[in-house]
Amino acid sequence: MNDAHNAKYYTMNDSLCRTEQNKMAICLIVAADKNGAIATGDGIPWHLPSDLDHFKKTTKGNAVIMGRKTFESIGRPLPDRVNIVLTKNKDYDVTRWNTGPSEAVVVAHTTEQALILAHGSPMIFIIGGGEIYEAFFEMASSIIYTEVDTEIEAADDTVYFPYFKDTQAWKLYAFKSHRADARNDHAFTIKWYSRPS
Ligand SMILES: NC(=O)c1ccc[n+]([C@@H]2O[C@H](COP(=O)([O-])OP(=O)(O)OC[C@H]3O[C@@H](n4cnc5c(N)ncnc54)[C@H](OP(=O)(O)O)[C@@H]3O)[C@@H](O)[C@H]2O)c1
Repeated sequence: MNDAHNAKYYTMNDSLCRTEQNKMAICLIVAADKNGAIATGDGIPWHLPSDLDHFKKTTKGNAVIMGRKTFESIGRPLPDRVNIVLTKNKDYDVTRWNTGPSEAVVVAHTTEQALILAHGSPMIFIIGGGEIYEAFFEMASSIIYTEVDTEIEAADDTVYFPYFKDTQAWKLYAFKSHRADARNDHAFTIKWYSRPS
């Protein structure tokens, strides 16, 4: 992407993830198939480096809140972000991961605690998985939703994003399509939704 494109891209994320009063807003960011599935028992069933580039660019420099299962599936803190891991386990220990200023990771035991820990970050991104999207869904004012052009086979262990498209509560603000290519298994469309206030 060139500089002009990048500038437009950041402006779009920035304006979406802040409220009119310039107060902090909560933004869900996800990639899902055509039926809202985000993972199988084996994890995320597609390989989309261009969507990961978008995820990285969007979330860098901000707080990311995730469930303990998602943190363990990533296997390390995401660099240059405040990583907040939700777990009910009071003994959950992440000290071994705090290896430097760009690798910060902290534990929260409630959604309220997670938001307090995120306070001070320019934006708060909820990065999954299914349980954590559910827990923050009603608090969110925007969703950055990558719709992957595939349908994964439903199974008992399929994880879904909360259903939201047919409600009147969300407005599609912008979208950007990407074709399947040598790097990306599938075509996908990134959609920016906001909840009209
Ligand atoms: N496609 C995507 O965009 C995307 C994004 C993120 C993740 N994923 C995938 O989603 C899957 C994981 O999703 P998931 O729904 O199974 O798990 P998850 O949401 O990542 O984590 C669930 C865990 O979070 C903790 N938790 C949940 N609600 C809590 C609350 N209110 N307070 C405190 N702790 C809370 C619990 O941890 P304890 O059991 O330790 O108490 C719970 O077991 C993985 O396969 C991952 O790869 C996909």
